[in-house]
Amino acid sequence: MTTSENARKPILAANWKMHKTVQESVDFVTALLPLVEGAQGVDIVIAPPFTALERVGTALAGSAVQLAAQNVNPEEKGAFTGEVAPSMLEDVGCRLAIVGHSERRALFGESSEFVARKTAALLERSIQAIVCVGETLAEREADRAFSVIEEQLKGSLALVPDDRGGELVIAYEPVWAIGTGKTATPDMAQEMHAFIRAQLGKRFPSDADSIRIQYGGSVKPDNVRDLMSRADIDGALVGGASLDPQSFAQIALFEA
Ligand code: 13P
Repeated sequence: MTTSENARKPILAANWKMHKTVQESVDFVTALLPLVEGAQGVDIVIAPPFTALERVGTALAGSAVQLAAQNVNPEEKGAFTGEVAPSMLEDVGCRLAIVGHSERRALFGESSEFVARKTAALLERSIQAIVCVGETLAEREADRAFSVIEEQLKGSLALVPDDRGGELVIAYEPVWAIGTGKTATPDMAQEMHAFIRAQLGKRFPSDADSIRIQYGGSVKPDNVRDLMSRADIDGALVGGASLDPQSFAQIALFEA
């Protein structure tokens, strides 16, 4: 491991997607905190649904676990029915927000241009963006995985000022591995993560080594350690296995 790899603090994030009521969310936090108490050298993040953000934030107060949103609208305020602004996330204590998740790209038609605006709006508020990229199975089978990721990165990061790349987190989530039980092998994931870091190096030459790149797609307690052992895999963005506090704690404490 190089010094720069050592400098990247692992970041393990729970993306609950459209799961959990407010009470279920608070119960999760009550169960999780004793399990991860004293965890050092890792960033642990929870992204509940919008409805539970405030109560989860309150439940996390005083702990090292960080609150994240699953989405954001780039506008500051206005007639955008159903949307949530960066200032509103700041208001409830969000330190991070996920943008460009493949489910939003595929199911809600979000383009990389829109993701770029969200990323820039978060930077304005000093909320850390977790910018997701990922290829579909058809794209991988057509040998287009690398070009798709290159395009998504280029588009999604287009509005990031040149000197602020170091504030980003990137999540590589191959669409074919999300919720399917199929994980990219650590070798496949590492290959793409190294490629992503090389692309980041073109855009943010002095920051690329410090940008954390998470892997997402069927991460579980029994595969996280192997994935995390690879040079350019700096964290995990976890869906299904993050819904249970025991399971997510095992993932967050993968090094223990
Ligand atoms: P799963 O862990 O359920 O495959 O979901 C991954 C994901 O999409 C996290 O954002």
